[in-house]
Amino acid sequence: MRHLLSILDLTVEEIEELLTTAEDILDHPDKYQDACRNKILAALFFEPSTRTRLSFESAMLGLGGRVLGFHDAASSSTRKGESVADTISIVSGYADIIAMRHPKEGAPLVASQHTRVPIINAGDGGHHHPTQTLADLLTIRREMGRFDGLTIGVCGDLKFGRTVHSLMEAMSRYKGVRFILISPKELAVPSVMLEELDRNGVPYLECQSLEEHMGELDILYMTRVQRERFASEEEYQRLKDSYILDSDKLRGAGERMIVMHPLPRVNEIDPQVDEDPRACYFRQAFYGRYIRMALILKLLRERGEAPATPDKGHPAYPVNQLPGAVCKNPHCITTTEQGLKQIFLRNPENGECRCFYCESKAE
Ligand code: CP
Repeated sequence: MRHLLSILDLTVEEIEELLTTAEDILDHPDKYQDACRNKILAALFFEPSTRTRLSFESAMLGLGGRVLGFHDAASSSTRKGESVADTISIVSGYADIIAMRHPKEGAPLVASQHTRVPIINAGDGGHHHPTQTLADLLTIRREMGRFDGLTIGVCGDLKFGRTVHSLMEAMSRYKGVRFILISPKELAVPSVMLEELDRNGVPYLECQSLEEHMGELDILYMTRVQRERFASEEEYQRLKDSYILDSDKLRGAGERMIVMHPLPRVNEIDPQVDEDPRACYFRQAFYGRYIRMALILKLLRERGEAPATPDKGHPAYPVNQLPGAVCKNPHCITTTEQGLKQIFLRNPENGECRCFYCESKAE
């Protein structure tokens, strides 16, 4: 069964194929209007969403299919204590494909163990958001015409920003890509991700100033400081306005740089920037519908096939259960899902162990 849990579940060639299909749908939507006739998408959103949920629904409707689901966990039997595993066992009997968003990291992986149909991760906690990344890649291809040799500034909440984590994984596979990681120290990229960049030989620089490297950037990827992931409201209030992009700050940028943002924005991009031709975040959201159409088509077509060998970029980790060890990440699905065993994977190169579900390091 093919699922999309992480962007690394797709090879570079498969991503290329999806982007090409999405562009063909953009140019010839009528050709695809019956492609999913009699197919049903379940959109299970245990966490709020505007773009991802509605673009998935719009994508399936545009393919001639139908949609069911919920947009609030409180209106589902999750409220009564039903597990992710049981919810998915049931819903996979009602639909042909499932797109799910969940606040707990690793929830889509649990879903993939209990489903009869493909699972698409529409965002799990601060972990992954692979379909946002596909929309980002389509945007970069259409706006820049290439992936190689880009300097990408990523700014804001790089600790909890799942869109950032998936984008970094995706772009690390292209030649000559360099990252400028702009965040307050408290919201820096997790060390496991920096180690991944080191392992793959991807150059990066961490800094706290939005302006300092503006002139070097091909892409400035702004992100929201995510109130819902903070343990302390006081800490959120202190950090929420760390970066605000306005027209003055953009004066230091090249004429061909593009400004991206997965949205929603709160205060980090002044609306005056929207008029700047370099601002492409609304086009980015628009493209999301078409890349999700391409993805639905691919996963339904390949439903019975084994996944392509994933170009993961890191060594395979053999399963190694650590008796008595417990994942310490409060956002991990193992903290709430009843009956879920703790599983850790050991890296044979350095002996490091990570949680199978959320990938955080075992302490
Ligand atoms: N970019 C994104 O995931 O937006 P939503 O939260 O509105 O789906």
